[in-house]
Amino acid sequence: MTKAEAKIRIDKLCDELQEHNYRYYVLAQPSVSDFEFDQKLKELEQLEAAYPEFVRPDSPTRRVGGEPTKDFPSVKHKYPMLSLSNSYSLDEIREFDARVRKAVGQSAEYVCELKYDGLAISLTYTYGLLTQAVTRGDGVQGDDVTNNVKTIRSIPLRLRGDYPPELEIRGEIVMPRAEFERLNSEREEIGDNPFANPRNAAAGSLKMQDPKEVAKRKLDAYLYYIPNPPENVKTHYDALKKAKSWGLKVSDNIAICRNMAQITEYINDWNKGRRHLPYDIDGIVIKVNDLALQQQLGYTAKNPRWAIAYKFKAERVETLLESIDYQVGRTGAITPVANLKPVLLAGTTVKRASLHNADIIAQLDVRIGDTVYVEKGGEIIPKIVSVNLDKRPAGAQPVKFIGHCPECNTPLIRKEGEAAHYCPNEDSCPPQIKGKLEHFISRKAMNIDSLGEGKIEILYDHGLVKNVADLYDLTYTMILGLEKVIPAGEGKKEKRISFREKTAENIIKGIEQSKQVPFPRVLYALGIRYVGETVAKKLAAHFKAIDRLMAASFEELIQVDEIGDKIAESVILFFQKPVHREMVERLRTHGVQMELTETQPSEPQLLQGKSFVVSGVFEHHSRDEIKKLIERFGGKNVSSISSKTDYVLAGANMGPAKKAKAEKLDIPIISEEEFEKMIKG
Ligand code: IVH
Repeated sequence: MTKAEAKIRIDKLCDELQEHNYRYYVLAQPSVSDFEFDQKLKELEQLEAAYPEFVRPDSPTRRVGGEPTKDFPSVKHKYPMLSLSNSYSLDEIREFDARVRKAVGQSAEYVCELKYDGLAISLTYTYGLLTQAVTRGDGVQGDDVTNNVKTIRSIPLRLRGDYPPELEIRGEIVMPRAEFERLNSEREEIGDNPFANPRNAAAGSLKMQDPKEVAKRKLDAYLYYIPNPPENVKTHYDALKKAKSWGLKVSDNIAICRNMAQITEYINDWNKGRRHLPYDIDGIVIKVNDLALQQQLGYTAKNPRWAIAYKFKAERVETLLESIDYQVGRTGAITPVANLKPVLLAGTTVKRASLHNADIIAQLDVRIGDTVYVEKGGEIIPKIVSVNLDKRPAGAQPVKFIGHCPECNTPLIRKEGEAAHYCPNEDSCPPQIKGKLEHFISRKAMNIDSLGEGKIEILYDHGLVKNVADLYDLTYTMILGLEKVIPAGEGKKEKRISFREKTAENIIKGIEQSKQVPFPRVLYALGIRYVGETVAKKLAAHFKAIDRLMAASFEELIQVDEIGDKIAESVILFFQKPVHREMVERLRTHGVQMELTETQPSEPQLLQGKSFVVSGVFEHHSRDEIKKLIERFGGKNVSSISSKTDYVLAGANMGPAKKAKAEKLDIPIISEEEFEKMIKG
């Protein structure tokens, strides 16, 4: 392929992939299979690596190209990001309409939209290219989170059609509920605190330092406001239609309403319909459609006078708190759960509600026998919001949180700064053992799917497995015929799970096959607190074998890229325990992978002990390739310059701030050629 041909092919692949992306994420009408898409993306990656001079800034490969950021730069908004005034009743909407009509001397047409419960974002496109994404902040200035926002597939990197040379557009970044639930169960699995709701999860995701991690959270975005639309656009509705024609994701659920009756209908429809949306909304927004009227109405200090938000009321009922149960999670965290007198709320019968932790119980001051108010807001899970003190029975006592584990009777602990009580008996407390076993066999860990769906529980209940190493002692005859009967209840029939010939055979086969699972996944499967998939990969790449990891000191551990005090401490504590060392030995004896298998001869460790900050664009390699070379030759990549950095490897367009910092700290700035010489010895 000649250079000219490569450029043509790169351009063609970029355009095609952008089109597919648009169809998939914006229109929700996929036009090619995932496989075909990935093939094309791979081809583009390879061509871009060979011809970096032709990499386009809007290339689909650049979505996750940004470098990790420690502090997000603060940016002043060109137009302040105001909030909307809230209302909670139709009367208030009627008053709003009356105010509008009085001010403009005529009746107004409105656009009704969903009020997304996410995080506001302002996007800037310059000559069609996404150049900046800034959070609301205090409304006057926000944080520049461009690299993280670029990972959101429904936000185009390049506009299409007749877009203006400079466009600022605002919208909301949301996390779909399904993704929120996936993320929270993953967090609980590795012992991290779950997010309280999808909004917090979206906000937390956007503030992560590494865009690669943000890309894993499946965020979505809807755009709903252009502060300075092109001259020829006369209404808000047309502005949104235009935005749509430029490839931006605008909701289809918007309506023009000409009177209160139509507005009321829209509100009522979505109050019911919101449960079927894949993301949370917390109300609706009503905006004057005509832009000239909007201008005439103007703004108060905080809000536009041409728009108002109607917030949905959370549905609330009263019921009796009969008792409190304490559940032990996989990580040992204790969750108090309220048993309620069954009551109908927003279409479902509610019998239980989480009380979260001891602090929440104390804050609410709920007592057994109290009549409590239970609410279901945008979120699916009902919560107790307060107590009806008028109905408190005489003599009701404050709740005394349990002191011992309800499953294994071990005294509970509560770490400083943490809200939850924990059962520290991680290796013999039944739900914790089962949790560890389930994590071990899960897809991203050892992937023994023939053991899913309650089968682990059967093995545990029969006393056959008490820790993950026991799985490898199982034989076909030991497990054949085991069964469990799940009694009928609540409209469900009795269920019987039994290990017949085929099941038993598959289980043994699955366990045998797991011996081929590579070391990084084995390390993740061990379920060390805070060692998720990414951390496991980093530790495995650095230490190469479990023996070296087990022998590592705290100082050695925190030397590894992205390993902080919390993880290092957790790794040390885990391997300090003789049961864990013994478990590792047994797994190793059974043939489970406890070290990296070298696929390529290892390079001389010429960069051993040296840390590099890589910045800018290079001629012969992509930035990722450079980083891999550093690691292959024993060096370490760090994201920001400090006095501990040994070299700054600078390509073209290295940021001026980085350069100044390196110079200030007297850190050598080397070129790609100099680096190549270094690794050639
Ligand atoms: S319009 C000048 N439209 O609600 C008005 N806002 O308190 C610009 N929001 O900060 C906002 N859905 O984060 C608008 N369809 C929608 C919205 C929406 C959610 C958020 C936005 C804003 C807050 C208002």
